[in-house]
Amino acid sequence: MRRQIVAANWKMNGSSELVRELVPAIRESAVALDNAVEVVIMPPSLFLGGVKSELSGSGLSLGIQNIARWQEGAYTGEVSAGMAADVGCDYALVGHSERRQLFGETDEVIAEKVARILESGLKVMLCVGETLEEREAGNAEAVVCRQADVALKGVAAADARRIVIAYEPVWAIGTGKTATADDAQAMHRALRTRLSALGFAADEMSLLYGGSVKPDNAGALFAQPDIDGGLIGGASLKANDFIAICQAAKA
Ligand code: PGA
Repeated sequence: MRRQIVAANWKMNGSSELVRELVPAIRESAVALDNAVEVVIMPPSLFLGGVKSELSGSGLSLGIQNIARWQEGAYTGEVSAGMAADVGCDYALVGHSERRQLFGETDEVIAEKVARILESGLKVMLCVGETLEEREAGNAEAVVCRQADVALKGVAAADARRIVIAYEPVWAIGTGKTATADDAQAMHRALRTRLSALGFAADEMSLLYGGSVKPDNAGALFAQPDIDGGLIGGASLKANDFIAICQAAKA
């Protein structure tokens, strides 16, 4: 049985007040999930400590949205994977399309970050996904497989249990457009086949879908055999929506 995971990517949204309101509401509702779904909260880094306090003893997980490709030193403004582990993170997100597009992160930089995350003892949540142009050119699967190949190059097979991959078609992020459940399933299957060819125990790895997941489409997506939960942006900032999405992953 693969772990079902629903992760909240707050992106650069939120405040101390939101931490105090939203996190206890999620925590309370998560009890009804009976541990069938792992819930991960990924706030902006400045709020990690506050979210950690609100989550204390709850069994919910904490993640950082980005880490540096270095472990320490003269890199003003950066935060390392080791620091994220030190303040109690379980996961580090890497490869999000906003980092790729707005901050110029290449597959090679992402591979360095994956290495830092693993050596710090954290779990990796790696995002992959094609742009609309790449999909329309018929290259979606090739792009996604290349992103996974490069990011995971050098990762030991034994570390597969610490890798979660989120397939997020770039054209579906924050746009209200979602991949159909069939299209998303087809990509997840292709990705699992690729992970297996890379030597990983792919059947044991959780593959999440992300991109405009909402309470009304989560059920159909999560019912697909190769979709093991979701990475949620906009809807993760609304307690009721996020909780409904977590419930859909349990069903
Ligand atoms: P969205 O974002 O749910 O707002 O589309 C998903 C993501 O970028 O992780």
